[in-house]
Amino acid sequence: MHSDDLGVDLERILVDEEALNRRIVELAAQVDADYAGRDLILVGVLKGAVMLMADLSRAMKHPLEMDWMAVSSYGSGTTSSGVVRIIKDLDRDITGKHVLVVEDILDSGLTLSWLLRNLNSRGPASVEVLTMLRKPEAVRVAVTPAYVGFDIPNEFVVGYGLDYAEKYRNLRVVATLAPHVYS
Ligand code: IMP
Ligand code: MG
Repeated sequence: MHSDDLGVDLERILVDEEALNRRIVELAAQVDADYAGRDLILVGVLKGAVMLMADLSRAMKHPLEMDWMAVSSYGSGTTSSGVVRIIKDLDRDITGKHVLVVEDILDSGLTLSWLLRNLNSRGPASVEVLTMLRKPEAVRVAVTPAYVGFDIPNEFVVGYGLDYAEKYRNLRVVATLAPHVYS
């Protein structure tokens, strides 16, 4: 869906399609260069990273593997608690492999820091993080992503994989919704 399709539900576009595409090509080139000659597995975190994974992996030249994890954090409403349950684990062993976790957004980073500890316990050669978006809160977390698409203000955003109540993941841009949508 395009931003026009949101009509009055759209508040503001933070990152448009052209900026997303341009940044993904840059990130893909960086990752290609950094992992040249190494076995790389991109691990997408479901469901938010689906769009990014599809675009980033296709912009890359590296013959990489792709795998997916789904995790759920026990939390109340919109705040995550850091207590995490694996809904879907990786299909393949990552021992000795270079892992790049692909995330939609880094906010409190609680879920991701749990995920990194979990992945690191499996004996990979390395584990790094690529996140398309980063909010200001993320600076207070021990998780330092190797690659960041865009730093955005501390607002709730949807689109490009990100949802509100499971909707708007298919929006082509990153945007905020008008207040009436939430009430
Ligand atoms: P964190 O653990 O607080 O870093 O964020 C965990 C998850 O919350 C992210 O992977 C997103 O799925 C979701 N999230 C955080 N901020 C937003 C937002 O602005 N819009 C939609 N989902 C968000
Ligand atoms: Mg997520």
